[in-house]
Amino acid sequence: MYNSKILGLGYFVPENVVTNDDLSKLMDTNDEWIQERTGIKERRHVIKGEDTTASMGVKAAKIAIERAGIDKDDIDFIVFATLSPDYYFPGPGVLVQRDLGIKTVGAIDIRNQCSGFVYGISLADQYIKSGMYQNVLVIGSELHSSGLDMTTRGRGVSVIFGDGAGAAVLTREEDKTKGILSTHLHSEGQHAEELSLIAPGMGKRWVSDILEDNDPEDTSYFPHMNGQFVFKNAVVRFSEVIVEGLKANQLEATDIDMLIPHQANLRIAQFIQRKFRLEDSQVFNNIMKYGNTTAASIPIALTEAWEQGLVKEGDLVVLAAFGSGFTWGSAIIRW
Ligand code: UT7
Repeated sequence: MYNSKILGLGYFVPENVVTNDDLSKLMDTNDEWIQERTGIKERRHVIKGEDTTASMGVKAAKIAIERAGIDKDDIDFIVFATLSPDYYFPGPGVLVQRDLGIKTVGAIDIRNQCSGFVYGISLADQYIKSGMYQNVLVIGSELHSSGLDMTTRGRGVSVIFGDGAGAAVLTREEDKTKGILSTHLHSEGQHAEELSLIAPGMGKRWVSDILEDNDPEDTSYFPHMNGQFVFKNAVVRFSEVIVEGLKANQLEATDIDMLIPHQANLRIAQFIQRKFRLEDSQVFNNIMKYGNTTAASIPIALTEAWEQGLVKEGDLVVLAAFGSGFTWGSAIIRW
């Protein structure tokens, strides 16, 4: 048995900045509402045709691989987390294998939305722990902007989400006191529809129905979120899964050097910060710049924190996520 550790990190966001004022030209919203409720000032949107979920993932992965100081051919396995795949199938993992020109290693796609990266890290960790693989590439990438309802009807969702990608290379660590100490994953499908995108989905509509009945009022093609219900569940589950991770390692909240919460809403992160009595320096937030990038949010934030020297050798780093499914999870890492 080994441990795994993060050897390299990278992220990519499209250059195109979309401010709250930009959105208020498309729908009945305003900068004050968005900042007050979510903390978001701006987000990035792909220019049509310039990037996809897979291509952003590839760009983030190239940086992570280079920083890991390994060759792409040293990658033994690819894990790709997204809710916005380029194709219904195949998933983007294989596109990364193709576009990075990696040899024919396995590639798996994770469908756990905002928790996708934590699920991905957990999966990679198990493969490395067991000795099956030495270097695993984990990507979280999302292209939301092509699928949002940019009218007033969709404003409760559309102002929140942004595009981007983050990636990590995990490798074998012989020292059992270092690297990923534990991961904790959960789901509660009872609330599946509370934050969801129902169509296209083989359960909801047959392709022949879509072709025959192209109803402009059909909102099932847009993400749906019961915001307040999701918010209430998020604060409870974030807290629970952080406590679970700390307890499993006989640690206290005071031991946390850096908490990287999934960037769902600045108010949620602030609630968690207060609950665990953490200083500003112990929590990293960048939702102000990028919005909620679901599976990409933790690896983008972790990379930025690391680039700014806020994640250092020996630090206790906690990743925590909650989102559609509902799914939630945490990872406790000794850097
Ligand atoms: O990442 C996955 C996990 N996701 C989350 O954790 C998100 C959790 N939820 C939230 O962050 C919040 O619920 C939101 C930010 C989505 C919404 O904030 P809220 O305080 O729950 O607002 P609300 O949905 O209750 O809406 C309040 C009012 C409504 O108007 P009325 O009915 O009071 O007249 C909405 O129609 O705000 C209106 N509204 C907006 N107004 C301006 C909703 N969206 C907008 C908007 N601009 N973009």
